[in-house]
Amino acid sequence: MSILYSPETRLLTLRTAHSTYQMDIDEGGFLRHTYYGARADGADFRYLHRRYDRGFAGNPAERRNDRAFSLDNMPQEYTGFNAGDYRTPALCLVHADGSYAADLRYAGHEIRKGKYALPGLPAAFDRGGAAETLVVTLRDTASPLQIRLYYGVFEELDVIARATEIVNGGESAVYIEKAASACVDIPYGKWELLHFQGRHCMERQPERLPLGHDVQVVESRRGASSHHHNPFVIVCAPDAREYSGECYGFMPVWSGSHKTEVETDSLESVRVVTGFHESQFRWKLEPGESFFTPEVLLSYSAEGFSRLSRQYHDMIRYHICKSSYVGKPRKILINNWEATFMNFTTERLLNIARQAAALGVDLFVMDDGWFGARDTDDAGLGDWVVNERKLPGGLAPLIGELKKLGMDFGIWIEPEMVNEDSDLFRAHPEWVLKAPNRPPMYGRNQLVLDMTRADVRDYLYGCFSKLLRENDISYVKWDMNRSVSDVFSNALPAERQGEVPFRYTLGVYDLLERLTSEFPGVLFEGCAGGGGRFDAGMLYYTPQIWCSDDTDAIERLDIQYGTSFGYPPFTMGAHVSACPNQQTGRTTSMFTRGVVAMSGTFGYELDLNRLAQSEKEEVQLQIEAFRKVEPLLRNGDYYRLNELEDLGYYSAWEFAARDGSEALLNLVVKHVRANAPLINVRLKGLTPGASYRLDGSEETYSGAALMSGGYTFPMLWGDYPSMQLRFVRVE
Ligand code: DGJ
Repeated sequence: MSILYSPETRLLTLRTAHSTYQMDIDEGGFLRHTYYGARADGADFRYLHRRYDRGFAGNPAERRNDRAFSLDNMPQEYTGFNAGDYRTPALCLVHADGSYAADLRYAGHEIRKGKYALPGLPAAFDRGGAAETLVVTLRDTASPLQIRLYYGVFEELDVIARATEIVNGGESAVYIEKAASACVDIPYGKWELLHFQGRHCMERQPERLPLGHDVQVVESRRGASSHHHNPFVIVCAPDAREYSGECYGFMPVWSGSHKTEVETDSLESVRVVTGFHESQFRWKLEPGESFFTPEVLLSYSAEGFSRLSRQYHDMIRYHICKSSYVGKPRKILINNWEATFMNFTTERLLNIARQAAALGVDLFVMDDGWFGARDTDDAGLGDWVVNERKLPGGLAPLIGELKKLGMDFGIWIEPEMVNEDSDLFRAHPEWVLKAPNRPPMYGRNQLVLDMTRADVRDYLYGCFSKLLRENDISYVKWDMNRSVSDVFSNALPAERQGEVPFRYTLGVYDLLERLTSEFPGVLFEGCAGGGGRFDAGMLYYTPQIWCSDDTDAIERLDIQYGTSFGYPPFTMGAHVSACPNQQTGRTTSMFTRGVVAMSGTFGYELDLNRLAQSEKEEVQLQIEAFRKVEPLLRNGDYYRLNELEDLGYYSAWEFAARDGSEALLNLVVKHVRANAPLINVRLKGLTPGASYRLDGSEETYSGAALMSGGYTFPMLWGDYPSMQLRFVRVE
């Protein structure tokens, strides 16, 4: 049992392998949050919360004579609004009479086996039958409105999923203006915020900030989770490091605009409110209807970031990615984008494919430029018919030849977008998001299709289901190359325009759901100009996401490092590309490029014909080496071996088999210096009493030695040197 209820104390306790989460229903029906932290079986945490009259902290009507009782300083499971708690609210809604208020009390709860689902939204699912669900119902004191709080407990993984449903049980419509997935109050302790900011070509860079007495906001208003602020955040103790210290993770399963507010109040209590962004949001909830928020995955680690990351990695591996490709070896792909951009023909593609196949690559992915009048990025988006000038006879001749080479075929699409210079736009100018009487904003000269409309989604479903049905396609790269703006739908009345931002993302999910369910044999890769929509919502449908448009190996070290705090390496699209690199002009060795790309979904993105013979041979050996370690990369535990402050000098990381049978140690030196300190890293996840042989040598070490004394790398020199060492347990 991971969810416990005691009728005597009225405590609800959620238990995971290493954490305890507790709430209590007080005699007046207030649902108080009493504890979230290290596991403490049998504890009744009500004793932690002493009450005092704090002044200017209002008292609910039924406790008006108890000045020490105030929602303003009570840790709560989910806040009401305009009812005496002046901190960041989880909820904001307007009743039919125009009043803004919600004052919530406990009305009942239910504990059930399995994991709840959320209609129309991606959400963690219960693979293996071990999850349990708690639903707590709260009711508003003065209206027939109910709030249902959902908790899905994944005991072994130390993850608690949360989501919220708002039910209009009345006879008039209400308007929701904010509805967070969760509110978590952390009343004691000193905390910092670790979040992952960036930009196009440099996504998810960790930034660690102290918390002041203010509200720190991590948000995207771009209609996508964004390059700029990933929705995943960590609240950690000031002494938290990779392998020590307390930290809490908050991972929204949501791909649209998002907002996480972290408020430290005057009594030093920290409140985290997280969910979709309420900017431009106003949802009309008719009588009898429900509104479901996206869910957020909470996780706690008392042993630093590394453990927290692995908890999320397993959660994503087993309970978020629904694709059957997770756990299976993936093909090694070659993508033509950086080799040709849109300037290609069947013959030019085959020329690249032939060389790639000869070196061991077994999947060819044709990128942007194969459809409509798509010669530049100014035209063609929306017209999903093969451009026969480039590909005479359609896709069949190309796929046929690839099959002869032993290669599968993959294709690029960008469903949500349209160019004005397209047959689709000429036929349906009303299908784009655009405010009346205003010119739209352009991004890459394209407009955003109105994904709230069923007719738009049906058109797209028609195009892509036909494409997948009529051709032997085993891989789809789903791109999205601009931020959403001009959020206005021609299909909705004025009073419902506030629903468009949320409904846009629901529309994307609907199309993804239809296509991924109908074509389970196709591996879908997410992409948004690189990693502009790298989040757990997309990973539900697309088990890998192109991590960044920056393919420079040294830049990728930092991007993949930051991404790994929340997301597992096997979800990160990573390719070896040409040198000098197209984004930075930097030259790195083929070996270093391979070491970095292997820590993602390994592939190539260059014309291999242009390599010298010696480099081609190196690629062949690299592919052989990759195939040898691929099961470990896919199934092993991932460990960062750097602390943030070492990152300027080197990057080191490890994959360790779960049974301790082998480990792959990776190092890239980013800044070689004369007479430099030696780099020593302590390995993780080995069997202490066992011996390990360094593959390709006679050297052996004990697991205990490698984990406590570590491994000292030889002095490396040159530009960005690297090593990849495999330690194999001697049976
Ligand atoms: C952005 C992607 O990230 C690239 O890999 C490539 O697919 C281009 N779009 C194509 O337009």
